[in-house]
Amino acid sequence: MDDEAAKRLHEEAEAVLKHNDRGQWTVPHPNLYPHQWLWDSCFISMGLRHLDIGRAQTELRSLLRGQWHNGMLAHLIFSGPSQRLSQRLSEGWANPNAPDNVTTSGFTQPPMLAEAVWQIGQKLKLPGRRSWFKEMLPPLVRHHSWIYEERDTGHGLAMLIHPYESGLDNTPSSISEVYKYAWPWWISLLEKTHLANISNLVRRDLRFVAAKQRMSNAEAIAYFSLAIRLRRQGFNIVDIRKKPRFAVEDLAFNSILIRANEQLRQIARIASWELSEKLISNMERSKKALELLWDETSGQYFSRSSISGQLIKEPTIATLLPLYSGTISKERADHLVDLLKRRRLFSTSWPVPSVPQTSSYFNPVKYWQGPTWINTNWLIVDGLKRSGYKTEAEVLKNRTLKMVAQARFADYFNPLSGQAMGASDFSWTAALTIDLLKA
Ligand code: GLC
Repeated sequence: MDDEAAKRLHEEAEAVLKHNDRGQWTVPHPNLYPHQWLWDSCFISMGLRHLDIGRAQTELRSLLRGQWHNGMLAHLIFSGPSQRLSQRLSEGWANPNAPDNVTTSGFTQPPMLAEAVWQIGQKLKLPGRRSWFKEMLPPLVRHHSWIYEERDTGHGLAMLIHPYESGLDNTPSSISEVYKYAWPWWISLLEKTHLANISNLVRRDLRFVAAKQRMSNAEAIAYFSLAIRLRRQGFNIVDIRKKPRFAVEDLAFNSILIRANEQLRQIARIASWELSEKLISNMERSKKALELLWDETSGQYFSRSSISGQLIKEPTIATLLPLYSGTISKERADHLVDLLKRRRLFSTSWPVPSVPQTSSYFNPVKYWQGPTWINTNWLIVDGLKRSGYKTEAEVLKNRTLKMVAQARFADYFNPLSGQAMGASDFSWTAALTIDLLKA
């Protein structure tokens, strides 16, 4: 991309962020996603840091409004009274730990906050960086401690209680577990009689996006029904763990957690802040535990079901994210890079597809079951760079920027044609485009 084209792309990305800016936070999309989401705001702040460092800091401070009294960071903070039943179903008000002045969901999302805090810190001079880190350390420490207190399955891996928590909503490793354990009998009945279409009363997404690019009605109902069950249990983890309908040690979430732990340690080092021995030992356990997700037979990492105790052998974009974790051996990393480059797997014309082409789930237009997403590309570029695969990182970065330049700031992209999918003018696509342009 020449300088002129890069400049234009940067200006257009800036305009998208301005349009979606709500003053203290940025909505992912004005119609489809009119609230504040956890990992969206983290990615968004990483673009904003190049435009206005103060505004980037505000993005994260406003995210902390959604921190629960027990340390959990909510996946979603409602912008105000919501008309949207689909999202209200996941409200966490039933739990005494929910914050007092805002309404949030009762779930979390991948712990990207440490990365965002770190990246903003890189744009500040040392005294400013130290005080920024000191300000963000208490909420960060509380958040990471909460993950271990409530979600540790015993080995240092975090367990998710709803697919929304992975951020990769209908990714095969999650949806296959929903089919197995969280698929009430009446949903199949609704499906057969076409009554599942009543979900359109609750779903607003289909007003903005073609149905074939989203989950099916029956799947959406199963997700709502799981959320309602969790809400009925008051998002009380003791009750939820007694007989979970969804319990997954998610590969993407845990890869991100391991990286976030490392960043938290660096943030603490620079701020001369001592982390507790307990937290440090938990962080070490997580690093080792990633290897529990390795499957020797197929030579891949997978998520694991805490219900069956088995690996969920569905390859997805998460397959590549141990590269981002930064802790795997050179041999394993080489192997993942090989998967990334294989034509029949992840090397499509517009990489990286959210599901490899050989998967029975692969569908180039369906949400997290094929399309390419900019945030996962960013994670892979970063992981490649840090693991010494500079050329591969550069190739993927340039291809990603070319795709955005051609198809604009879409929610996600067809990995075969590069066409825009989902919502247009999506915030994290714009923000991470800015960041990739500066990288
Ligand atoms: C979708 C995505 C999720 C994202 C949210 C808001 O639910 O799957 O990752 O955080 O939209 O953009």
